[in-house]
Amino acid sequence: MCGIVGYIGSKNAQEPILEGLTKLEYRGYDSAGISVINHQQLRTVKKVGKLNFLKNSLQQSPLEGKIGIGHTRWATHGIPSDVNSHPHLNNKGTISVVHNGIIENFLPLKEFLIKKGYEFLSDTDSEVIANLIDYYYEDSIESAVKNAVRDLEGAYALAVITTEEPDTLIGVRHESPLVIGLLDDGFMPASDIPALLAYTEKVKYLENGDIVVMTKNSIDIYDSENKKVERETKKIEWDLESASKEGFDHFMIKEIYEQPKVIKDAIRRKCVDGVLNLGDNTFSKEEWNSFESIYITACGTAFHAGEVGKIAIETWAKKQVQTEIASELKYYQPFIDEKTLLIVVSQSGETGDTLAAMREAKKKGAKVLAITNVVGSSIAREADKVLYCYAGPEISVASTKAYTTQLIALYALALDMAKKLGAMDEEKVQNWIAKMNNLSSTVEELLDSQGERYKKLADHIKDSKSIFFLGRGIDYLSAKEGALKLKEISYINSVAFPSGELKHGSIALIEDGTPVINIITQSNLVDKAISNIKEVKARGAFTVAIGDNNNDGIKEVSDVVIPIPLVDDILAPVISVLPQQLLAYETSVAIGNDVDKPRNLAKAVTVE
Ligand code: M6R
Repeated sequence: MCGIVGYIGSKNAQEPILEGLTKLEYRGYDSAGISVINHQQLRTVKKVGKLNFLKNSLQQSPLEGKIGIGHTRWATHGIPSDVNSHPHLNNKGTISVVHNGIIENFLPLKEFLIKKGYEFLSDTDSEVIANLIDYYYEDSIESAVKNAVRDLEGAYALAVITTEEPDTLIGVRHESPLVIGLLDDGFMPASDIPALLAYTEKVKYLENGDIVVMTKNSIDIYDSENKKVERETKKIEWDLESASKEGFDHFMIKEIYEQPKVIKDAIRRKCVDGVLNLGDNTFSKEEWNSFESIYITACGTAFHAGEVGKIAIETWAKKQVQTEIASELKYYQPFIDEKTLLIVVSQSGETGDTLAAMREAKKKGAKVLAITNVVGSSIAREADKVLYCYAGPEISVASTKAYTTQLIALYALALDMAKKLGAMDEEKVQNWIAKMNNLSSTVEELLDSQGERYKKLADHIKDSKSIFFLGRGIDYLSAKEGALKLKEISYINSVAFPSGELKHGSIALIEDGTPVINIITQSNLVDKAISNIKEVKARGAFTVAIGDNNNDGIKEVSDVVIPIPLVDDILAPVISVLPQQLLAYETSVAIGNDVDKPRNLAKAVTVE
């Protein structure tokens, strides 16, 4: 996720901006840049890669000036490159803008500006903002920014400076964070508190729609209706370490709690004006019709998402799909040819096994559609089509928000396919989009409501030798993800079985007190699930159900019921995975493991 830091005051701007950007590195980024004004001259330096590249370049030739803006970019539109990095300038080179968020209507705005004679150098949505402000500029940067933001749709935090008014720094907050640090001799807008901690304890939190006009000695804040408002000054209570995790103890739990937002973003990015529209990121009707076989491949959590994707495609688009683990598919693909579509799913876009399977399939002429979270990653670059997850950087090794946004991307793809293949009419597609839109608030309610129960349960299971996860149909796929999550961060042997399969051998492993976690969301399978719980309970299992709290049958056979809201069967993994993520997290904490960096594991496994 991008990071913004600005400075206006009586010192050189470069040092606090670079220091602030350093403290925002944890957010994840792929390039960085800075603009500073001195004697009405704007100087901008931008570098792809680590912040150190920018710092090294500035060491050779430092920027002088007491007003400036800086940025770390997490690419969304256009690959990570010097030219796509922020700040972005207007054509005249007099206005400099940094942006965090997504401008949804940047294409029509860009077309409009091109017609007015503006030229664009980058592939970003953000460059539009600099030229749009220029378009509105007459004699006041404040008015120009206010006019420009009226045209912007999407999420954005901005910092803006111009050589025309070198004593004014403008900040904007709309659906993306921006806070203002109050210095003794000026102000520092920033995306997040860690950027400010070395400079001040005093901060103003902005509201959505606020526009802030800062000079060295004054700050004026206007709300979304352009009314001048006061925002309370607060004391920062966080230390640097906890602040970088935004108050959470670990990145994993922070990322779990980010899911309502990223799910919402992920759906929004698959639609135009609320209507499903994957644009160029998908295939045409003719292309969809031309595929004779469809495969989904991935590793780990991404594979578990892919397996749910198979069900969605088969149910909605009525096309058969094969799923295969990438490290296996690489070596065995007898039926992959030029009539095959391979869908690859990968958070990092750099997983060696996935990349290898994909390259092998490409050699045979298959077309590849990638679902990934990282713009410009190898998988994104080598695929024919790319659907991005928009989960933002996932730092914890245990994947959480990437999984739920991969599900959203796969659902959207299945609906696109269903529509183009005539398996579903437009109205039904939009009904599903509406249901997907509701998921974000359902996830939020669930995360907010379940409090301490996981700590208690984690305490109960943390010394277990093994833990089993059971489910039928799509619940089995969710159980597989729950078992992987628990295993990788608790180091407890956790295995998922299709509920009906247990009695064919593995039930021999159940001892007195063995925890068995049962996922029960599928309306037509509840009775069968209850019978399976009875089987393990009769052998002494400690039974936990993740399902409908109002079902007496479930309550009767379970030692603990974790209630979840019921949604349509096919969407249920988005909900049922949450308690499993929280349980894995609390168990790892209870054991005292390094939650975010479990032993032997890496975030991106680039080796085969
Ligand atoms: O970056 P990818 O999605 O391709 O990574 C695939 C797996 O390595 C990954 O999902 C792994 O299983 C996670 N640690 C699970 O939490």
